[in-house]
Amino acid sequence: MKADDLQALKDAALTDACAAQTVEDLEKIRVKHLGRKGLLPEIMKSLKDADPAERPAIGRIANELKQELASLLESRRAAFQAQTACQTQAFDDTLPGQWRPLGTRHPISQIIEEAVRIFATLGFTVADGPDIETEYYNFDALNTPGNHPSRDTQDTFWLESGELLRTQTSPVQIRVMEEQKPPVRIIAPGRCYRRDTTDATHSSNFHQIEGLYVDRDVSMADLKSDISYFARQMMGPDVKVRFRPHFFPFTEPSVEYDFSCHVCGGKPALAGRGCRLCKNSGWIEISGAGMVNPKVFEKVGYDPETTTGYAFGMGVERIAMVKYSIQDIRLLYDNDIRFLRQLSG
Ligand code: PHE
Repeated sequence: MKADDLQALKDAALTDACAAQTVEDLEKIRVKHLGRKGLLPEIMKSLKDADPAERPAIGRIANELKQELASLLESRRAAFQAQTACQTQAFDDTLPGQWRPLGTRHPISQIIEEAVRIFATLGFTVADGPDIETEYYNFDALNTPGNHPSRDTQDTFWLESGELLRTQTSPVQIRVMEEQKPPVRIIAPGRCYRRDTTDATHSSNFHQIEGLYVDRDVSMADLKSDISYFARQMMGPDVKVRFRPHFFPFTEPSVEYDFSCHVCGGKPALAGRGCRLCKNSGWIEISGAGMVNPKVFEKVGYDPETTTGYAFGMGVERIAMVKYSIQDIRLLYDNDIRFLRQLSG
């Protein structure tokens, strides 16, 4: 062994120690050089055979190798350990994970999606119209001129432009009929607005599902059977539907229809202290319907002599309240997760 070779070996050992990536690497380098069967003890053993002139230099370099390598390995090992300690502190894998609640579809969306599905089986497609409507589409085209008393019950939010937030989804009927010739078979779910004071059954912003079926020879029997089919699909096979005479300017004749109360099964007298949901009447009003008024057909350019059709508009909140036995409409808008989670579907 020559002094120069040993110097090169020492430099290589220190370089290796600097390049080590793990505590295990450091240990391997230590064993290889400083271990009992390592290079250093061998060099010391071979010292006696070395050239006497080189011996002091070899001894000195061997000593340096031992000390410098040992201290370098030790300081790097301490640094690795400190780093691991920091990482362990920053990430404590014994802590519980973050809870991210899974959202659910809002009950109003659930009712709308279910209604769309049910009417799709009868051949209805979905139509849409704007929330900000003109007075013409919301009222005039629906045979409700400016002096008509029924406008009073549908006061709403007017914009400075003269437009208004639609009070009903019925203007979608007009928009669809202007765009296409009969036959027409659409439903139009959406938001409506009225200047109603909020209470347990009223909200100034609510939802309706409009339906319109126009063809030849459409009759009241079609209306009654389709609404009854819908009611059974939505509420269950035992629900009963009641049609009562009513008035709407854009249908003639007109009806309002009720579903039998879901909570008392239409028999409030049997429900112990009575039924709060239907207020002991056994029925829940769902909304209005009727045969499309020929005056509306005239407005959209359909021939009122040969064209017949029915229309209905139902309150989505009403259906949700009956279906889920909700006593107060405001629960649907409070966004209280404890309430909404019970209706998740
Ligand atoms: N638009 C009416 C309302 O909001 C309901 C309705 C729709 C009545 C279609 C008849 C036909 O009260």
